[in-house]
Amino acid sequence: MSLPIKHALAMEKPPTGDITVRGWVRTRRDSKGFSFLSLNDGSCLANIQAIVDHGIPGSDDLPQASTGASVEICGQLVDSPGKGQTWEITATSMRLVGTSDASYPLQKKGHTPEFLRGIAHLRPRSNLFGCVFRTRSRLAFAVHQFFQKRGFVCVHTPIITASDCEGAGEMFRVTTLDGKEMQADPNATSDFFGKRTYLTVSGQLEGEAFACALSNIYTFGPTFRAENSHTTRHASEFWMIEPEMAFCDLDTDMALAEEMVKSLVTDTLEHSAEDLTLFGKFVDKGLHDRLHAVVEKPFERINYTEAVDILKKSGRTFEHPVEWGVNLQTEHERFLTEEHCKSPVTVFDYPKTLKPFYMRSNDDGKTVAAMDLLVPGIGEIVGGSQREERLDLLLENMAAHGVSTDDYSWYTDLRRYGSVPHAGFGMGFERLLMFVTGVANIRDVIPFPRTPGNAEF
Ligand code: 4AD
Ligand code: MG
Repeated sequence: MSLPIKHALAMEKPPTGDITVRGWVRTRRDSKGFSFLSLNDGSCLANIQAIVDHGIPGSDDLPQASTGASVEICGQLVDSPGKGQTWEITATSMRLVGTSDASYPLQKKGHTPEFLRGIAHLRPRSNLFGCVFRTRSRLAFAVHQFFQKRGFVCVHTPIITASDCEGAGEMFRVTTLDGKEMQADPNATSDFFGKRTYLTVSGQLEGEAFACALSNIYTFGPTFRAENSHTTRHASEFWMIEPEMAFCDLDTDMALAEEMVKSLVTDTLEHSAEDLTLFGKFVDKGLHDRLHAVVEKPFERINYTEAVDILKKSGRTFEHPVEWGVNLQTEHERFLTEEHCKSPVTVFDYPKTLKPFYMRSNDDGKTVAAMDLLVPGIGEIVGGSQREERLDLLLENMAAHGVSTDDYSWYTDLRRYGSVPHAGFGMGFERLLMFVTGVANIRDVIPFPRTPGNAEF
């Protein structure tokens, strides 16, 4: 019977026959007559210890079963005298599957995340990154479960698109033309798609079309931004979860975002407990308290105008001074959530001039029904809004933002044929992972990070 190490360690009592485990050698200690092999197969944080008698079949290869080598062990599960482990395995045979030489860069002593970034193909074999990527997997499942349980339909919006949802012009061009051909054909009529196309920055606009048919939908996929930001919270390729709800206003939208954060944190506490223990010990000592507070305490909501007042009265000198009408910077967001509210907080009703063309105008004429959910340690984790469903006002906004009505005629059609109030948001999946793991750099929660100047591996 071949078992993932996780299942072998979790057995209630040892089976009568032999079991087989496979994995990579973390350490080997040789004694007189036998050796200890510590194996990990990534199914869990813990290693299993195997006692390999010199003389059993395959044990001649023991000298080559060095750190990093892959082996298969067959043997009897027995009580372990070692602290913190239930079972160990008394080998009856061993098979060396793949050798590893002395240049193997992962050693028993911990390595820094910076060092491990340089060996992104091997870092999932480290304790930290094993924990991160198991947590990521579980969280992705929990995201689908959250929406599926509530009857939301999963929509796979396109990766290649002709629209610039956020209007920020931070898009990667997709083309088969070479430099000369591009210059000669600025409208790209001779290009693969017969027009200019890009990697999507957001699935929202296409998501709106589906919400205006299937009512409640979500997309969960990769998005791309050619933004030259060198921060610990920005990646050029990141995953975004974007729900969109028809017959919905900003209040319901904010409530869904809050419920989603709470629900995903609850799921992580329940299903990634072992991995969280490592984060709590080695990454962020305050993690458990913070996550429990997120589940137990209500979140705050303040409008942008109040937020600016709070920041102005805070007595703080910010690097970027605050005035009504300016964008909130990370330092402001973190002050609001970490010091003022001491909890996650949703800021809503932002100045119209700061936001993209699709957001719904409020009656005051100055603000739009936008919202950002801010969390301690990170700042913005969710950005969303109620969308402008009134055709005349949408056309006005598009004109004001210089958005072509020709290019977006399909989008304005949605307001021509049975328009409904609708709202949605985007949650950055890596930001969420940073929040639940305490990992401080976005490069360390995505398998192969893409950032300006870096597309290694
Ligand atoms: O606030 P953003 O730009 O909103 C949108 O794209 C909307 N179209 C979403 C919608 O309403 N459907 O991005 C949403 C979230 C941010 O709050 C942040 O968590 C994450 O996406 N995000 C990034 N994450 C990593 N790296 C980047 N460069 C990011 N830019 C945004
Ligand atoms: Mg935003």
